[in-house]
Amino acid sequence: MNYGYFEEKAREYVITNPNTPAPWANYLGSPDYGAIVTVNAGGYSFVKSGAAGRILRYTFNQFDEPGRYIYLRDEETGDFWSASWKPVAKPLDTYKSECHHGTSYTEIISEYNGIRSRVLYYVPMGATHEVWRVSLENLTDRERKISVFGYCEFTTESLYTQDLVNLQYTQFITKTEFHDTFLLEQINEFNYPRPDGTTGRERFFGLAGAKVASYTGRREQFLGRSRFDKPQAVVDGKCDNSLNYNGNPCGALQFCAALKPGEKTTAAFLLGQKTVFEAKEIVDRYTQTAETVDKELQELIAYWHGELANLKITTPDKNFDTMVNTWNAFQCFITFVWSRAASLMYCGERNGYGYRDTVQDIQGIMHLDPELARQQLTFMLSAQVHHGAGLPLVKFSHNAGHEDTPEQDSYVKATGHPSYRADDALWLFPTVYKYIAETGNTAYLDEEIPFADKDVGTVREHLKRAINFSMTHLGPHGMPAGLHADWNDCLQLGAKGESTFVAFQLYYALIIMKEFCADEPEYVKYLDETAENLLKILNEQCFEGDRFIRGFREDGVVIGSKKDNEANMWLNPQSWAVISRGATAEQAEAILNTACEKLNTPYGLEVMQPSYRYEYFEGARMRLFNPGTKENGGIFCQPQGWAILAEALCGHGNRAFQYFKESSPASFNDDADRRVIEPYVHGQFIEGHESPFAGRSHVHWLTGTASTVMVGCVEGILGLRPTPAGIEISPAIPKEWDGFTMEKVFRGRKLHIIVDNSAHKEGKPAKVVLNGVERAAGVIPADELKAENDITVIM
Ligand code: GLC
Repeated sequence: MNYGYFEEKAREYVITNPNTPAPWANYLGSPDYGAIVTVNAGGYSFVKSGAAGRILRYTFNQFDEPGRYIYLRDEETGDFWSASWKPVAKPLDTYKSECHHGTSYTEIISEYNGIRSRVLYYVPMGATHEVWRVSLENLTDRERKISVFGYCEFTTESLYTQDLVNLQYTQFITKTEFHDTFLLEQINEFNYPRPDGTTGRERFFGLAGAKVASYTGRREQFLGRSRFDKPQAVVDGKCDNSLNYNGNPCGALQFCAALKPGEKTTAAFLLGQKTVFEAKEIVDRYTQTAETVDKELQELIAYWHGELANLKITTPDKNFDTMVNTWNAFQCFITFVWSRAASLMYCGERNGYGYRDTVQDIQGIMHLDPELARQQLTFMLSAQVHHGAGLPLVKFSHNAGHEDTPEQDSYVKATGHPSYRADDALWLFPTVYKYIAETGNTAYLDEEIPFADKDVGTVREHLKRAINFSMTHLGPHGMPAGLHADWNDCLQLGAKGESTFVAFQLYYALIIMKEFCADEPEYVKYLDETAENLLKILNEQCFEGDRFIRGFREDGVVIGSKKDNEANMWLNPQSWAVISRGATAEQAEAILNTACEKLNTPYGLEVMQPSYRYEYFEGARMRLFNPGTKENGGIFCQPQGWAILAEALCGHGNRAFQYFKESSPASFNDDADRRVIEPYVHGQFIEGHESPFAGRSHVHWLTGTASTVMVGCVEGILGLRPTPAGIEISPAIPKEWDGFTMEKVFRGRKLHIIVDNSAHKEGKPAKVVLNGVERAAGVIPADELKAENDITVIM
């Protein structure tokens, strides 16, 4: 069953049945002022932190309540409904609803009882308040009198946990005021100094474009003894103009509209954390509601569609196009900007950036906005400790050059992270490489950037120290120690256990560094020898003919040997053997085949198999998860991207695309009840075949999957592989495809690419025609590109 469809032209996902299996959500604004809104207008808002700057209440893991509710009431009959299907939830045979989730805006269009309502939710570009524009249209041939109630439920404290549990305190620190066009919630808090010397905070809920007919600042007066589906004020047709003093504050404002046949009206509710003066100024700004909102919406669309414009593909597979062109790309920007800050799964407790997560997230937008990517990359380099490791958590307040580190109690206390991970800084290598390749900006390697705690060094120096950190943390076999974790948060191998995954990452880093340090022969020699030696160890100690093992435990026992009963086959060492260029062609064939045979399911590849049940060890923390779940044999989604890439690098287009399709959200559009979460965004994992709910996905939106699958699609399947010298275009596609086209902006030049697959191959193109001139497949030097280029890739 499906609940909606992709509207690719508008870059929207349109939900036509609001009774979705989970609250399908969208992101508005940025963490400076963040808002999550669902198909039924549920969700919350915050300033800077979902946990510590919460404005709107939301009960996680419940009924998708409360939300940004608009109630409509027919003044003649007293019948009422909501502009989103829930909370009132009129029977769906009488109530039509469409929810358009777009790029940083959501519009819910409903029709009931001859009234069409459109509610547009957004946060204007760069602003720190939100707008709910309400438009009503009378579709009947008689005059209609409609009352509109806007409702939001404020927290009593910015710390959302305090608001939830410390009621003996938080219930007694707020009061509301009414100021003609808005309600103002005041919170008394010593921690927040106001400009006038008093302490506290204000939030407002205002109305522009219509006159306030009634109001209340008291939740209990609005709801009465009912819940959100039957608020007493709406039943009564008016609020009682009461103000909150202790208790649960809310914003509830009513306006009345009399609509002639065919007539429309528009007003806007405004919400934010602002002083009384700022609130008044914002509400006044929207008096010309329709014009102001249209302009702001156009700005948002222009910005976001601009961000997505650098690559546009048209292939025989519409779902692939929609993911690559819009939804996966938009999700990459959301993970880039929001990190793991707030979702319906993350409540905002994390007060910083995870190192590897963020360095991976940067890769997801590299082909679209490399300069934005560079800013964050520079920031992450400045979060490298002087000895080369990445800080496990980079505080939002990160102050490069002056930070404490896991060696110090203060850091551990502030972040909860006692030690380093083996992989964190190694993600920098592919990310820096991708930036330089996309832009040609090799000078970036010489840019000086501070380290987190002390010292300053060029980017090249930062990378050298990252290698040095790995090389000074080797285990008994001479491979990188697994430390507190490698990519797998649940695999704690300590200072003596070793990780093949990290060994391949290090190998890849050494190869990349050779290119970055070409004019330092001594260092290149070191890199060569180190790489050769590492590969030798990997081949001698870790290769079992059809697979690479996962590593060694602290006591030297092999993890992931085919001799084991459980966890005898792991995905990441196979994909990374290929991605790192460490595997020979023959090895690559063998290990990728084993991965396919042992790990693939209709919904993607399981991260390892069989799941741990009995034969686990102390460091295998994933055994806590049920078999087939998360890191314990689930279809962890980040590794799908690497599997896609690895297959594509080997020219296996069929399999690369198969892996894309199996786990792609869009593939589940017509099987949405199985997947549960949104069919337009990746989740962190999908339950594997050992679960009774195989195919169900979890942890929507904020996941590294966005970037790994994006890279798998763009560099892998589409074969767009920039190098410092130029760009190689080497697609790996399903044999059946006759071809496809791509519009790509590369270093400011336009590439109009036609891939001709009349030969029906799945990879490794035969030749390329650049602006009418035939050449062998391979890198097209950037200096041979003109402003506009016609490129035909012949498979
Ligand atoms: C989660 C974490 C990520 C980790 C992965 C595997 O996605 O955010 O850092 O690599 O799990 O454990």
